[in-house]
Amino acid sequence: MSDGARAAAHGTGGVVRAPPTVGVAVPAAGAGRRMGGVRKPFLELAGEPVLLHALRPFLSDSRVVAVAVALAEEDAASPPEWLVECDPRVSVVCGGETRTESVRRAIEALPPEVTLIAVHDAARPLVSTAVVAECIEVAGTGVGAVAGCPALDTMKQVDQDRLVVSTPDRGTLWHAQTPQIFPADILRRAYQRADGNATDDAVLVERAGGRVRMIDAGRGNMKVTDPGDIAIAEAYLAELAAG
Ligand code: CTP
Ligand code: MG
Repeated sequence: MSDGARAAAHGTGGVVRAPPTVGVAVPAAGAGRRMGGVRKPFLELAGEPVLLHALRPFLSDSRVVAVAVALAEEDAASPPEWLVECDPRVSVVCGGETRTESVRRAIEALPPEVTLIAVHDAARPLVSTAVVAECIEVAGTGVGAVAGCPALDTMKQVDQDRLVVSTPDRGTLWHAQTPQIFPADILRRAYQRADGNATDDAVLVERAGGRVRMIDAGRGNMKVTDPGDIAIAEAYLAELAAG
């Protein structure tokens, strides 16, 4: 096949890209304060740990070559057997004081040769294989890919007294979830420049001038945050199983 034909086959408009290899950084070292001080990744959801649900769609993708899970210090010292034994691509690192620090340590534990890095919260167990695949494909074109969903409610910006400052156009607003997948060099550079805690990874790439595109993962790609969320996640799973 000629170079041109190969480029056309890949839909890259003339640039031939090698298939991506993906490393996954999974922050799982939080204290779960809003859940009442329990480790959310170890909570049982429909018969298995939240963290295993969150890992499975990545492990079933053959482009994923390594997964680094950041656990709290005492868990990293003796990680659960179900995690260590679930797949040879999985390794465990010690997380940090903040989510940003946990992600940084997980990224550093990934092999230097991966071309894409995915960041996915352990507390987001309903991520689908389709969303993982779509984010990998978009990130493979050189743009950051962030799972999320369009804002449903009208949004208000307020000041410290909760007085409304403005009502931004809802049509331009999205919720950001994970996975967030980026070309590895862009994310590594963004993390080198990062100081302090950021609520997601894309903001670091945005600050560094990188382009980021939202991928619609629906509201079902929820994060387990409050005590009632396990029941809500189980209801979503039951709905998915019923087709
Ligand atoms: N996380 C982490 N290291 C931290 C803080 C958070 O790895 N120091 C991880 C959490 O384990 C979770 C993800 O980041 O998978 C998203 O964080 P969040 O939902 O806020 O979880 P927690 O920080 O554990 O919960 P809370 O904020 O209620 O304490
Ligand atoms: Mg937190």
